[in-house]
Amino acid sequence: MNIAIDGPAGAGKSTIAKRLAKELDYIYVDTGAMYRAMALYFLEQGIDASDEKEISSASEKVDITIAYQGGEQQVILNGENVNGRIRREEVGNMASATSIYPVVRKKLVALQQKLAATADVIMDGRDIGTCVLPDAEAKIYLTASVATRAKRRYDELQAKGERCDIAEIEKDIEERDYRDTHRTTSPLKQAEDAVLVDTSEMNIDEVVETIRKICQEKQ
Ligand code: C5P
Repeated sequence: MNIAIDGPAGAGKSTIAKRLAKELDYIYVDTGAMYRAMALYFLEQGIDASDEKEISSASEKVDITIAYQGGEQQVILNGENVNGRIRREEVGNMASATSIYPVVRKKLVALQQKLAATADVIMDGRDIGTCVLPDAEAKIYLTASVATRAKRRYDELQAKGERCDIAEIEKDIEERDYRDTHRTTSPLKQAEDAVLVDTSEMNIDEVVETIRKICQEKQ
């Protein structure tokens, strides 16, 4: 059985998917991390996100593989583990700007489908239910209000001791939502057969429980 979890940035997809994967003994596949690893490569090469030609030729030089260490997904970019370097806002924004290109998506979708073919996976992203795993047995569209998502991100950064501004975070989230939902190739949208879960008023335990029930019903 494969479980697809899609939704906008900051809806809690990875937290929930990780918890569920542990409980159900599934492999957790974080597809955003793959787009981030490619974005890191483009950033390090000094490539402009709007230069599709450059992005295309650079994409050919990118090799991304996935490994698991203590159950945690590791993204290997051209032989180097880049997990520690892909979480910065700058990388997330570059990932959002470059994931619009079919050449980038084609490469990563193939890798994601290969992973799902060999194991039971819980995969999270933006196009899993609509494009990567259209036949997934359970599909969830996880969302929350912009204000809730910004507050969660703010708390997370505060806990890490990072200075941040909630209005700026909100603006960033809105921009990323807009880009992800308006791109031509595989935009973020709820699959017709996905179950909508709005987590604005829910805590993590409640969300995990809700999704576990949805998955049980699909089994
Ligand atoms: O989920 P995360 O914030 O790590 O994803 C970074 C960016 O990668 C997203 O803003 C989105 O543009 C892109 N992405 C995508 N398709 C996916 C996963 C992520 O386009 N399946």
